[in-house]
Amino acid sequence: MAACAAAVLAAAQPVLRTDNIDEVLAAMTLEEKAALLVGGGKEFPGRAKGLPAGSTRAFERYGIPLTNLADGPAGVRVNHPCTGFPIGTLLASSWDTSLVEEVASAMGEEARAYDVGLLLAPGLNIHRNPLCGRNFEYFSEDPLLSGKMASAYVKGVQSHGVGATVKHFAVNNQESLRTTLDVRIGERALREIYLKGFEIAVREASPWAVMASYNQLNGDYTQQKKELLTGILRDEWGFDGLVMTDWGFKAGTVKAVQAGNDLMEPGYDGEIRNILTAVKYGKLDVADIDRNARRVLEYIVKTPAFLGQPGSGAPDLEGHAKLSIRAAADGIILLKNDGILPLRAGAKIAVLDLSEKGFVAGGTGSGSIGKGGVTSLETALKKAGLEIAEQADVAVVSIGRQAGEAKDRVIPDDFCLTEKERSLLEQACATYRKVVVVLNICGVVETASWKDLPAAILLPWAPGRDGAFAVADVLSGKVNPSGKLPMTFPVDYWDDPSSANFPSDSASVKPFVDYEEGIYVGYRYYSTVGKAVSYPFGYGLSYTSFDYSKPKVKLRSGVIEARITVKNTGSVAGREVVQIYVSAPSGGLEKPARELKAFAKTRLLAPGEKETLVMRLTPYDLASYNEATSAWESPAGDYQCLFGASSEDIRASAVARLKKPQSWPVKRRCAPVIDLKEIRL
Ligand code: BGC
Repeated sequence: MAACAAAVLAAAQPVLRTDNIDEVLAAMTLEEKAALLVGGGKEFPGRAKGLPAGSTRAFERYGIPLTNLADGPAGVRVNHPCTGFPIGTLLASSWDTSLVEEVASAMGEEARAYDVGLLLAPGLNIHRNPLCGRNFEYFSEDPLLSGKMASAYVKGVQSHGVGATVKHFAVNNQESLRTTLDVRIGERALREIYLKGFEIAVREASPWAVMASYNQLNGDYTQQKKELLTGILRDEWGFDGLVMTDWGFKAGTVKAVQAGNDLMEPGYDGEIRNILTAVKYGKLDVADIDRNARRVLEYIVKTPAFLGQPGSGAPDLEGHAKLSIRAAADGIILLKNDGILPLRAGAKIAVLDLSEKGFVAGGTGSGSIGKGGVTSLETALKKAGLEIAEQADVAVVSIGRQAGEAKDRVIPDDFCLTEKERSLLEQACATYRKVVVVLNICGVVETASWKDLPAAILLPWAPGRDGAFAVADVLSGKVNPSGKLPMTFPVDYWDDPSSANFPSDSASVKPFVDYEEGIYVGYRYYSTVGKAVSYPFGYGLSYTSFDYSKPKVKLRSGVIEARITVKNTGSVAGREVVQIYVSAPSGGLEKPARELKAFAKTRLLAPGEKETLVMRLTPYDLASYNEATSAWESPAGDYQCLFGASSEDIRASAVARLKKPQSWPVKRRCAPVIDLKEIRL
């Protein structure tokens, strides 16, 4: 009798396994399923000072554990010691996907060690405008570079059996009014520029999760936009993971649930009530709840918390600190060098911090690095064997800028140098024989008006907690810089085509933003109109020189294979990033003069050594989105493949011929509801 009762109970209350999700869902009450769709919020046990950022709820009777969601992207943010890695922009400046995968794998290891189920990273919104406060978390102005970096990041994190979350989906390109802003954008620009990176990451790396953005897209909140979260993301790209909201600021639970937004974060009890009330009054279908709840469970059964694998609590922090320094050094960009760098061993140098900020290791807000001491530039330079002295020949002058969440940057005193910084820089250049400027910044700054003053300019961005060691390694020549710009440094802020529609001061903040520049973002604009820039996209110097030879392009069974041989023609070992820009044949849609379609980085080449880089792309990678036919199209003809050391320094070229036009039809989705006036060039 007792055995029989137990059997009945067991049947009514199954315990979750990887293969019985339907059975568990069938056993759960509507209230329980609604609660599964809403994060643990304030009830989240053991949550200290907002770290980790959120959770999913536990349901002990079904054996469903709580899982933790913690921020990135510059490392894991929990209340334990974690590595403060370089910002996303610096990782992208390395153009080194294997390095980014290695870094993200270290983050995955830390997440795993501290029982985090999902890392809320990478962030891959496009750098549409230099002033966006969160650009530091993101990779680039280019969708291919963003997408490839994000794929590498996702693969690295997920190699430890924890999930990555690509965010913020989509068009979260400014912080001003981010929770209400309506982004009004054409379908082509949306798909080619702003969604492409997400498409690449989803197709190549299968992230466990996607975080919807706060803002609206053509009249609807992205977190509630079914065409985006289900139509494009799942139906077109095949995403089969979990979609969550961004934190708080919800525009309505029911529409989000219907749109396929599976998890409300951080989760408020009121959201559970919203779901239940909507079902009661026939406004929400239980099938929508079941579908989303299934996805939450599909995520949970993958987590170490569910699999009974508690974290060690002891990641290899020492190893990761070394890796973070190596990663930072790989991404540091040398913008100018009048022969002063590398500094000679034993050189006496003065160190001046013009902005009086101390060393900027990362940005602020949810994308900041966790707590811990930051290595100063002086400490790192001394350790590299350089003597710090006031009476010196050379001055290392740092300019610091931090940026962060919920606020965009401004032109005076942030994009541009302050008056004080400028006069201190002038004084330093008059006092010392040679000055090296270190741009320790979270976003693009104006350089054109002062770059002639110093002998050298180094751009280490915000390179993480121990990033000063990487700066010292590059200054001392231990590492030969090989980073290249993942965005353009314009001459003037107003040169940027998005600046006409970006809130550069509080007076210009509007509740909507029109992306009138369309597809002409960053170098796509500058190279098409031939406008001079301060430093072009893809640019970066080295302590050695490289020669490009034997460019070849072949179309073989639908894959375009491009090869180039790179030779180190200088006297020190170094690495080179080669970029392939494609100029499309005329006859199809209007196109930018050139677009990045592939890139690769050599291994460390000794002087005189050569390497042949092989890059592959497909006809789909060449396609543009035609709004009139609602299809991706690659017209037939000759595609010029330009092998560049930057977007403005093309060293070799070869032609790929597409004999037949190709097209990939999709449904028309997310179209603007206003008559948007896009620029035509
Ligand atoms: C940010 C997200 C972050 C979340 C949790 C939000 O305000 O936009 O990027 O993951 O907070 O901290």
